[in-house]
Amino acid sequence: MNSSCLFYAFWTLAVLLTRCLHGQTEECKTGMYPPKGSTFKGNVPWYAISLDEDPVHRWDTVVKDRKYELVAMIQVIKELANSLVPSGKLVALVDNVLPLMLDTLPYPFNKEILGISLASGVPVGEMILFNIFYEVFSVCTSVVAEDANGNLYHGRNLDFGLLMGWNHKNHSWTLTEKLKPLTVNIDFKRNNITVFKSTNFAGYVGILTGIRPNLFTLTMNERFNIDGGYVGILEWIIGKRDGMWMGFLTRTVLENATSYEDAKKQLSLTKLLAPAYFILGGNQTGQGCVITRTRINALDVWEIELKLGRWYVLETNYDHWEKPFFLDDRRTPAMKCMNKTTQANISPKTIYDVLSTRPVLNKLTTYTTLMEVSTGNLESYLRDCPDPCSPW
Ligand SMILES: *[C@@H]1O[C@H](CO)[C@@H](O)[C@H](O)[C@H]1NC(C)=O
Ligand SMILES: *[C@@H]1O[C@H](CO)[C@@H](O)[C@H](O)[C@H]1NC(C)=O
Ligand SMILES: *[C@@H]1O[C@H](CO)[C@@H](O)[C@H](O)[C@H]1NC(C)=O
Ligand SMILES: *[C@@H]1O[C@H](CO)[C@@H](O)[C@H](O)[C@H]1NC(C)=O
Ligand SMILES: *[C@@H]1O[C@H](CO)[C@@H](O)[C@H](O)[C@H]1NC(C)=O
Repeated sequence: MNSSCLFYAFWTLAVLLTRCLHGQTEECKTGMYPPKGSTFKGNVPWYAISLDEDPVHRWDTVVKDRKYELVAMIQVIKELANSLVPSGKLVALVDNVLPLMLDTLPYPFNKEILGISLASGVPVGEMILFNIFYEVFSVCTSVVAEDANGNLYHGRNLDFGLLMGWNHKNHSWTLTEKLKPLTVNIDFKRNNITVFKSTNFAGYVGILTGIRPNLFTLTMNERFNIDGGYVGILEWIIGKRDGMWMGFLTRTVLENATSYEDAKKQLSLTKLLAPAYFILGGNQTGQGCVITRTRINALDVWEIELKLGRWYVLETNYDHWEKPFFLDDRRTPAMKCMNKTTQANISPKTIYDVLSTRPVLNKLTTYTTLMEVSTGNLESYLRDCPDPCSPW
């Protein structure tokens, strides 16, 4: 074991101990909205992207504005790679081998990644790595809830950067902090009319959080699972490419699905490179579900069922029929706060309260997004989690 591995091992142990000792579960927050105070880091800027434009140039404006932050982020990823494989061989591999993969990515993603590489000056292999990164390292909380009038709301915290560089001075995750300035809201248009909106990281062409106004809302959470796991990604690199990138599927669904049912079908049946959770909300009563995916298909679809008293579905990173990992239980506190809120009082505002309660809000939380399908509204906020706050 080299010294950086040893450091990570000790660090992980220290974090686990801290978490056990302090618990850091707090009383359900109230009155947090409109966002303000120490857990609100700032607003997320909006950009428009025209789907009529050549994919190579679609992202030009976003990249031009966020180039500095993007290059800084890539630098951190490379430093992390070099600290794991000090010879620099990993980065060399990325620069030499990954570019060959570009043409195997589906259109328009291949062209978009190429365009972002050209506009930012970041080598194409590193841009592909950056895009793979988000597919596999996010731990999150998502919820779809129905109010007493049948309106559907969808909220999510995007938590990212686990075990990737800890800043001892101000107790923050290096990667999480670097991601905040890369967060952008995008209004994707065709014929100058909104098709869908998303909260994205500049440089990433997939979608983790999005709304198709009047039709559906969609978020994706990582599913850590040995059955499949990262095998699909390795297979893709060595040439077996029959599965789809998860974030490319969500983007395709947001761009081209015509209804909640159509979205549900595509998200359930398309073969994937790795397992995932898709959290989907529709525009009518009862339309909200968590799709638990294996690489092949849906293992389970868990839906809102008012008759059973289930007026919301909530997903973190564990199968809903199993207990969460005891060191990472964000589900119980989030559900406790949802239950305490009650269906009569649920709204984007009270969902923001739930998503602001530690440890649902934690050191990894990059942004909180709130979506309301009937108005087409998507709003997102950058987050901070000052101490005492759980590392995840
Ligand atoms: C912690 O320090 C780093 C490096 O100076 C900075 O980028 C980051 O924004 C800080 N984070 C917080 C939460 O203060
Ligand atoms: C697109 O729509 C906006 C308002 O919705 C309008 O201000 C703008 O001129 C339109 N652009 C084009 C190219 O039609
Ligand atoms: C959506 O459909 C259009 C028209 O068929 C196609 O050009 C576009 O590439 C599709 N979008 C995605 C992300 O696959
Ligand atoms: C809900 O979605 C369906 C398509 O599934 C659409 O026909 C209908 O107009 C939508 N309803 C509202 C209120 O937007
Ligand atoms: C929340 O309420 C649901 C439905 O009544 C129940 O199944 C669940 O155990 C409750 N969870 C918590 C953490 O209170």
